[in-house]
Amino acid sequence: MKRDLLSFADLTRADVDRLFAVAARLKADRRSGKHHRELDQRSLALIFHKPSLRTRLSFEVAMTQLGGSSVFITEREIGMGSRESTSDVARVLSGYVDGIMIRTFAHDLAVDLARHASVPVINGLTDWLHPCQILADLFTLREHRVDLDRAIVAYIGDGNNVANSWIEAARLFGLEARIACPEGYDPDPELVAKVSRSGPGRVRIVRSPMEAAKGADVLYTDVWASMGQEAEREKRLPIFRTFQINRSLLREAKPRAFVMHCLPAHRGEEITEDVFEGPQSIVFPQAENRMHLQKAILFDLLAGRAKSRPARTASKARASKRSARTRRSR
Ligand code: CP
Ligand code: NVA
Repeated sequence: MKRDLLSFADLTRADVDRLFAVAARLKADRRSGKHHRELDQRSLALIFHKPSLRTRLSFEVAMTQLGGSSVFITEREIGMGSRESTSDVARVLSGYVDGIMIRTFAHDLAVDLARHASVPVINGLTDWLHPCQILADLFTLREHRVDLDRAIVAYIGDGNNVANSWIEAARLFGLEARIACPEGYDPDPELVAKVSRSGPGRVRIVRSPMEAAKGADVLYTDVWASMGQEAEREKRLPIFRTFQINRSLLREAKPRAFVMHCLPAHRGEEITEDVFEGPQSIVFPQAENRMHLQKAILFDLLAGRAKSRPARTASKARASKRSARTRRSR
């Protein structure tokens, strides 16, 4: 049966541990020059209704480095829901590609797409959640020897998709997601309630960035106005002015705390230049890990399916195995 990755609810702790192990192996292989072809002849459709640098590039390059290919399409070409129904798009794409990544506004659209697609659908960001980002962030923190079952992650800023995915992460890890946001810009209360009910982590919503940062292992931030909220930017600037990661906030955190940002960053707004470029910032390893972690996701969701595809006859599969062996031995 196909599996989707729309939210952390699609994952168990064992799934995430496996993704981390595969990502670490693929990252090491990339560094040592070992090539992979597990997604040979596999294709991923990348649907973008919003702009992207990291998500698009990291998925495209990940597919290429695993021997597969990707196709980038925007709303202008598809007209999902206007030119054509989501269910028709899902079924047509399922005949062409082996997986679909979608970045869109309404989370329900991604859910609808997944419901009608017979291939895995991956959430590359919706207004509600950004699971691929937080999976890569957790992987980055583990690489930096942060104990994900004890860490205090202080998220400073808007209670947006990124904050919501941090809260979701507290349903798999024993971490504390401390969210400092202005009143009226809280993350989803239902997600907060779910963590409060069943843990294993915890969530605290506070109004003071200083209080959130106190003793934290990680200071994390994101833009004050997300994609789709550009018209609210001027209104939001004075409301969020004090929700900034700067030197005095960093002093409240543990002495060796890490600074993270999902990017793109607005220096001088949610983070100051000195902290962004400072020694505690791990924003670029964090960005790089998007690719390694997503390779693990693609490997997990697409490679297994590839083996059981009926279109590949046994003799073709044997021939492709032989040629893969030849390629590897070159
Ligand atoms: N962090 C992130 O998702 O970046 P992009 O918007 O550039 O994809
Ligand atoms: N919250 C931001 C994240 C960008 C990666 C947005 O949705 O625009």
